[in-house]
Parts: sequence; C-alpha cells; structure tokens
Amino acid sequence: MCGIVGYTGFKDCASILLKGLKCLEYRGYDSWGFSFLKDENLVTIKKAGKISEAEEIVNDFPRKSFTGIAHTRWATHGFPTDINAHPHFDCRMKIAVVHNGIIENYLELKKELQKEGHIFRSETDTEVIPHLIEKYYQEDILSAIRKAMLRLVGAFGLAIISTDEPNILYGARRGSPLIVGVGDKEMFLSSDINALVTHTRKVIYLDEDEVVKLTPTSFEISTLKEEKMQKEIHTISLDAVSLGKGGLPHFMLKEIFEQPESLHNAFRGRLDYGRAISKLGGLELTQSEMLSVRGIKLLGCGTSWHAALIGKYLFEELARIPAEVDYSSEFRYRDPILLPDTLVIAISQSGETADTLAAMKEAKRKGAKVLGICNVVGSSIARECGRGVYLHAGPEIGVASTKAFTSQLVVLTLLALLFARMKGVMARREGLIALNAIEALPCLAKRVLKKAEKVEKIADLFYRYPNFLYVGRGYQFPIALEGALKLKEISYVHAEGIPAAELKHGPIALIDENMPTVVLATESNILDKVKSNVAEIKARKGKIISIVTEASREMDDLSDFKCSVPPTPHFLAPILSVIPLQLLAYYIATCLGCDVDKPRNLAKSVTVE
Ligand code: F6R
Repeated sequence: MCGIVGYTGFKDCASILLKGLKCLEYRGYDSWGFSFLKDENLVTIKKAGKISEAEEIVNDFPRKSFTGIAHTRWATHGFPTDINAHPHFDCRMKIAVVHNGIIENYLELKKELQKEGHIFRSETDTEVIPHLIEKYYQEDILSAIRKAMLRLVGAFGLAIISTDEPNILYGARRGSPLIVGVGDKEMFLSSDINALVTHTRKVIYLDEDEVVKLTPTSFEISTLKEEKMQKEIHTISLDAVSLGKGGLPHFMLKEIFEQPESLHNAFRGRLDYGRAISKLGGLELTQSEMLSVRGIKLLGCGTSWHAALIGKYLFEELARIPAEVDYSSEFRYRDPILLPDTLVIAISQSGETADTLAAMKEAKRKGAKVLGICNVVGSSIARECGRGVYLHAGPEIGVASTKAFTSQLVVLTLLALLFARMKGVMARREGLIALNAIEALPCLAKRVLKKAEKVEKIADLFYRYPNFLYVGRGYQFPIALEGALKLKEISYVHAEGIPAAELKHGPIALIDENMPTVVLATESNILDKVKSNVAEIKARKGKIISIVTEASREMDDLSDFKCSVPPTPHFLAPILSVIPLQLLAYYIATCLGCDVDKPRNLAKSVTVE
C-alpha cells in the first residue's frame, strides 16, 4: 500500500522523484523519504508527515544527483515517525532500500542479523532487507539481492541503490506490484503506473520473483535462478491529464461527477442489439464452457465485495445460476469447496488487493476457471487471471471508491445478461429491454448529479449526528452497506448498513430521534415491505432520509427528506441510488473538515493482508 519510485538517468532526480511521490500519495501518506546517490555517498531525507511538506525541503536539496529512490508510507510495522520512514539502510549506510509490502518473518530475521552484529535503527519490517543484502554482499549487489529475497517471506516491491554502483537502480518484486518505465536515456521504477505516465508510456511489468538492474540506457531482468528474461515493453494509453482534479476540490468529487462517462465506458462496444446480448472480449471461455457453468463464486473486499453481493442477485435472477459471495480474506484461508463447473469471479478496482489476489490464486490452484473484473489495466489480478473484463473507468485516485463501483455493477450486469441469453433463460425482448436500459444509464446518472445541491443541503442539516443507519432490501441492501461504508471511511461517522427487514430483530433498539436512517426505497416489488419497515422507525421518532424513484409519492408521509433517482429496471437501480449516498458521505465529510481524498488510516490499494 506504500508507494515507491526510483530513477536513474541524466536529469535532476530530486524533482522527478518528488513529482512521482505526489502521484502516489493516495497509496499511503503518513511519512515520506528520499535517498540520492551523490559523489559516492547516500544523501537522505525522510520525515513523518504529508508529502506536501516535502516540497520545500527537497527543493533545498543539494542538486545534481542522477540516481535515487523515494517512498510514501502507510505504516504496517512501527509508528509513522521520521526514523521509521523509508528508505532504510545497512549498517554502513551504503545500501538504501524502499519497500512496499510486508515481511512476515522479519522478527526471526532481525534476531539472526542482530546476533551477527547488525545494528538496527527503526522498528520496521523493511530494515531487515538492506541488512540481509549487506550480509550476502560479496562480489555484486545483484546476487546479494537474490540471496536476500530467498530469505524473505511475505510481499515486497523493492527499489534499491548502493554507493558502490553509482548509476544503477535495482528493483525486485514478490506479491507487490513493480513496473519499469523505459525512457530515452533514463529509466524509472514504480509501484504504480500513475507515477510514470508523465515521463514515459513504455512500461515493463515485473513478474513474481524477478529482479531488474537498470542503468540510464539499459534494463536487465532476471529470475532468482539467474535466468535472463526477455520481457515485452507495453505502451500504455493512460492519459496523465486525466489525473488532475478537473478544477474540483477533491478527486472523490471529480470521480463521482465522472460517472456518466465512466458508466458509458463500461458498456461501450459491448452491447449487441442484433443478438440482444452483451459481448465481452476478454472472457476466453468457449460457448460450451459457458454453458457448463453450474455455479458462480464472487470474491472481493470492501466496496468490491458490495459489488459482488449485487452480482449474486444478478446472476441468480437474470441468468438463474446459483451464486455465492465470499470476502477474499475469508475464502483464501478456509480450504473452500469449489464444486466442479463453478466459475470464480474476482472483483478488484486496483487489481492489486493482496487478499483478492491470493484468493484467486487459491481458486486457480483448486482447478477453477477464474475471471477478473478489474479497473487497472495490467494489474496483478488482471494478469494472473489471464481472462476477464476491464472497467475502463479511468484512474480512480480518491481513496473511497465511487466510479469504479458503478462500473463494476455495469460489467456484472453485462456478464449476467450474457449468461442469461446464452442459456436461453432470458427472452430476446427482455434482452433488448436490458440493453436499452443500460445504454440510458449515463443520461440518468447526469440527472441524479444535477441534484447534488439538494444532497449538500441534507448533509448540512445532518453532519453533526454521530451515528447513521442505512437500510434497503433486495438489490438495495448492498447499497445500504456501501452508503454506510462511504460515510464511515471519509467522515469517521459511525454507520451501519442493514437489510430493512432485519431491523426488528435487534437494530431497531438503536432508533430514537438522534439516529437518522437513510432508506433505499426505489420502486420494486418489495417497496411495500420496505415502507412497513420504515413505518416502524418513524413510530420510534427516527428521522428518515429516503432515496426514492422520481415522481413516486410512496414515501412522502414517511420521509423527512427525499432524494429522487430516475426510474430504471430494478436490477439497475443500485447504479443510480448509490450516487446520492456517495454525495451525502462526501458533503458530510467536508462539513466536518475531513481530508476526503486521504482519509486517516486508509490507503487506496491494500497490498498487504
Ligand atoms: C472503499 C474502498 C475499499 C476497496 C477495497 C478493495 O471505498 O475503496 O473498500 O473497495 O479495499 O479494493 P479493490 O477494489 O482495489 O480490490
């Protein structure tokens, strides 16, 4: 979850690394650090605090260093302090290492190294790495890195420099992403494509247990067994311009407002009206393989897990395929049973979430066909699955996922539709209705966003409440969970999502005039049931904010405040009804003065267990 960046070339590396770190800040932001090679010495600056504070200090730095590494940290082992900030060093301060990931056996290694006389300065797991390299360093750094890697258990993406090799930058990975940027007489290393796009579009994805040696004009990639690897150079199409905030105060708000476009991108070129079906290029499944699918297992974490819950409703209702949902973190450790002909779908915006990556590997190991739904092209999950569907939502920088979630729902609908039509359980007419409704979504999302001011007013009235409930039924129950998660993570206000009918089995005890409830009450065959549940809240003086279908009067008597969303088939309704909840969380967080794009304790991409 930390961000790492490295450079070797002929330009001033301080400003390049600083620019890179700013792009990576969303991956972790409790401390930062740089090491440069200068006149056969290491020059280092590292501090607890935000990267914005680094600018002045780094700008005052001795210039004309052409090779260096930098890091933005999300603490796992050791408090966010100056001393725990990366880079970390060997005893003689000749080798500097930045690390993204976790070293699980660091305590045992630390004891061993301390016994041998190595002096540790920090409380981090990372510091064992430079000491291990020092221990094994005889002739060259590269073989010492390989030997150190063989001792490490856990996940790592590493960038390494040494005073003994002034123009060389090393990288190594296992479990955490690491990408080489190939420039014109300069080379880059980063945990994330975002930090590279302003410099080069040419990238090489390192695979598991690969090590790279970079000079300004060459790259040499090899395995732990010293086999040289010939790797493809990919040209990325990511537009760096789209990484700005577009004049809005936060990435999250920009991304909420981008949804009409990102929804469009999720289905662009994927609607086949002639056959009344969706077409998804990357599935790599034959028709008979698809027809033989008897069950679907959906995996994800956080918001992607909420998308998976809606996926279950979609596959069961539209395609009549039994579907189950698992948290990736639970699935991977319980020796799960996968019945034959179960298709596993791993959902992840970043494509780097460690638990989802491990869960999909476990499913593959058990012989299942695994399909990925990812946003980040070339991410570890996308590459590991080898088959799947991209969201094409564009970079999502705000830590709270918004546009990726609604795109995940579109892609899951397209998949369910594909299975439904292929299996013949959905008639052509219904297929066409669904395609038309999907195509209308961007316009409808625009209509919802036009009402943002109304949501802002509601936030103004409610931001002082310390607790919220969110309730919904059917397809809207996962949206209740998602609305509550959005509020919790960016405003630190406690919120719970509950199936509306479950209230009376316990949570209703919480209701009084100080407990507002957000109710998802769009048109559906169970709206009457939702209304009865809400009446029970009202009878206990609970305040009600309801999300209703435009022109519907059903909730008038029960609601204190209403937000409406346009009509759409019930299985697409979550895509629209989540938008006011994203806005509500955003406006409450800003009323409370919270740092929306960098919520405390969170990082965008959770590459540790
Ligand atoms: C919440 C949020 C997280 C992520 C979760 C999985 O707003 O962003 O809950 O959804 O960490 O991340 P991905 O989808 O990248 O696997």
